[in-house]
Amino acid sequence: YENSNDGSIAIARQIAELIRAKQKAKQKCVLGLATGSSPKTVYAELVRMHKEEKLSFKNVVTFNLDEYYPISRDAIQSYYRFMHTHLFAHVDIHPKNIHIPSGEVSKEAVKAACAEYEKEIEKEGGIDLQILGIGNNGHIGFNEPGSAVHSRTRLINLDHSTRLANSFEFATISDVPRMAITMGISTILKSRKIILMAWGVAKAKAVKAAVEDDETELVPASLLQSHPDVQFVVDELAASELT
Ligand code: F6R
Repeated sequence: YENSNDGSIAIARQIAELIRAKQKAKQKCVLGLATGSSPKTVYAELVRMHKEEKLSFKNVVTFNLDEYYPISRDAIQSYYRFMHTHLFAHVDIHPKNIHIPSGEVSKEAVKAACAEYEKEIEKEGGIDLQILGIGNNGHIGFNEPGSAVHSRTRLINLDHSTRLANSFEFATISDVPRMAITMGISTILKSRKIILMAWGVAKAKAVKAAVEDDETELVPASLLQSHPDVQFVVDELAASELT
């Protein structure tokens, strides 16, 4: 797309079409959702469709990719707060259908909480459509370079480059949590359909490595090459390194 606005609207339309098709079939629509700056316009467009075009989220079940650890739900930087601010507070989704990894569980309880998250996804029949952004280092979710293709939801250490990229949300870099809970690569690959979005020149190298170079755990987004139904939606700047 020429710009991120057009790309975001195209993604929102695909999401809305899926929600409506599932409604018609009287089925739930299970969405995997991302946070960060990339999907903000997608969510704004979905909110507009809810308000102006009667798009209902009553049949929608959501699973977010990740959350900082530790972090309280109420923290300004929590992904719990992000999702409520940008989407959930403005649409008719049932609160019980919202799933976000908790940054509040004790260290001893994290492993069980991650296993439970995987079970919840399975109980809902798996993810129909997973939305992804991409890190400058090629991460998807918070699966940093080196994440195994068979990884599942787990606690991970954030790379310095990721903490730096996200530090604008915090007072200083030392305030950025050192860890996060993220769905694994295999969790993401089990989704029936995947849409990754990337805007701006800062993502161009990661997009090229993911799409044109070989699959490698050193560029987690390249592991999407083995999935049968993936779209990369990019603006001209993010596509500028593609040959
Ligand atoms: C966030 C997530 C991350 C971001 C990525 C890009 O839920 O899964 O992988 O998508 O760090 O972040 P932005 O969009 O802020 O450039």
